[in-house]
Amino acid sequence: MSATKVSAARYLPEDRALDSLKTAAGRCRGCPLFADATQTVFGHGNVGAPIMLVGEQPGDQEDRAGLPFVGPAGRLLARALDEADIDPALTYQTNAVKHFKFTRKGGKRRIHQKPSRTEVVACQPWLIAEIEAVHPQVIVCLGATSAQSLLGAAFRVSAERGRVIELPGALDVRLKPAPVVVATVHPSSVLRDRSAAHGDAYKSFVDDLCSARIAYAS
Ligand code: URA
Repeated sequence: MSATKVSAARYLPEDRALDSLKTAAGRCRGCPLFADATQTVFGHGNVGAPIMLVGEQPGDQEDRAGLPFVGPAGRLLARALDEADIDPALTYQTNAVKHFKFTRKGGKRRIHQKPSRTEVVACQPWLIAEIEAVHPQVIVCLGATSAQSLLGAAFRVSAERGRVIELPGALDVRLKPAPVVVATVHPSSVLRDRSAAHGDAYKSFVDDLCSARIAYAS
């Protein structure tokens, strides 16, 4: 597969309804990640959900279940949403990359690998199509991969987290009103932080989700 051909764009259906997108994404061969993954993990939630949560990529459990955020990071996210007073039914949950990327350890264990910039860009047409089909009011980018997919490779979550940001015009998302974006850390990073700073990391994560809730409610 040559570098110029690494894109999901040619797999997108003409009918951009969410169900059609999900079916078509199940057949995506736009980058090599489909080959080892169990299945495409498309987003989950309703058209019109006011808050779209965008993670990095499905993990081991999501790859098996075919649903985003059903594993440990998803459980932390669910708890944080509850504390931020965000009803999960008002969220659409998805990922910047729709296939699980991993290496094998000891024959069986599958170890998460960060998707490359090429893979993130290749998968971006699905994310843009989901944004257009769902038309959220606020998009919450969970972690750098997700934030950089929408806000550019130079975007730094550590410097900009919790702020309400305009969706870049270059993405050509034709929605009125245009969704705004709030970036925060990935729930896995909070989960992995077993230091004395864990409580603060979790609280800052909840605070960022509260910024998203306020942006949606205002
Ligand atoms: N991490 C993510 O970024 N997305 C998931 O769906 C699960 C874990």
